[in-house]
Amino acid sequence: MAPARIKPQGIFEIYTDFKKRQLYTKSLANSTESHFGERIIKDGGKVYRAWDAKRSKLAAYVLKGSPNTGIREGSVVLYLGASHGNTPSYVSDMVGKEGFVFCLDFAPRVVRDLVFLCKKRENMAPIMGDAHHPKTYADRVSEVDVVFQDIAQKDQAGIFLKNVRMFLKDGGVGLLAVKAKSINIKKDPKQIFAEVRDEIGKEFMITDMRGLEPFELDHAMIVIKKRPPVEEANKSVNTGSRRSSSRRRDDSRSSGSFKRESSNRRDDSRNEKRSSDNNYSRRETKKPAPRTRVRRSR
Ligand SMILES: C[S@@+](CC[C@H](N)C(=O)[O-])C[C@H]1O[C@@H](n2cnc3c(N)ncnc32)[C@H](O)[C@@H]1O
Repeated sequence: MAPARIKPQGIFEIYTDFKKRQLYTKSLANSTESHFGERIIKDGGKVYRAWDAKRSKLAAYVLKGSPNTGIREGSVVLYLGASHGNTPSYVSDMVGKEGFVFCLDFAPRVVRDLVFLCKKRENMAPIMGDAHHPKTYADRVSEVDVVFQDIAQKDQAGIFLKNVRMFLKDGGVGLLAVKAKSINIKKDPKQIFAEVRDEIGKEFMITDMRGLEPFELDHAMIVIKKRPPVEEANKSVNTGSRRSSSRRRDDSRSSGSFKRESSNRRDDSRNEKRSSDNNYSRRETKKPAPRTRVRRSR
């Protein structure tokens, strides 16, 4: 029997070849359809989509040695700056049929493409909205396990903070792809990354930060964890129980409904690379703003 060419990469739901240079995701519907001209390969009866790190900051972050993306099977993800849906389609593969990806962009031209893509991928929904104003789409997005942001705006950190406060669940992971040149074209990118890290770190625990060169120049990924309020964290220590949200949410898309259990059910440390833990300051999270738990997407 020929040896398998594809193997788990080490980060949840991501695969690689034996040279560990090319990333893949397992195709959501085991479909051989290529959405963006990506290479499709079959291995062991499964279909995999090649994921180009030069076209995706998330893939670049993984190849740069990410210890954790926070995204796994069953996760609900809010993707800010979804564009035509290239990286969101890989996130859709990663979260699988039990997960969901809310894909937000403010440019009508790209949202039109997103609509077509989401018709083919039932675990994705397009949302046209400005990420500066999360209240304007709060009725269409549920509480999420992961907020991912890839938006070239001057106020990238402020946009990220607003959305994390509003939508990220306690214990959830936020990933911010920082584009230094959009913040200040003259400043040293390293200084900008440090300033963004410090701004976000005042409120949330920074778990990782790394540059994305050579895949993306002057970009860094900053990753946070939203800590549960102190009383809740203590409660789970006292009872010896893990914080698991057994609650189920019923969110409906334009057709049919989508149900999921929280991805908290998995032990974070099971097959994921251990985080180098926090090289940066650990601070308490702010209590999330009160919000309705069940939200509907159109
Ligand atoms: C670099 S592209 C994202 C590429 C995408 N993440 C991928 O990897 O496939 C940035 C996107 O952010 C969107 N964008 C910029 N500012 C925004 C805002 N304030 N609200 C929503 N989307 C925004 C742009 O329209 C653009 O499509």
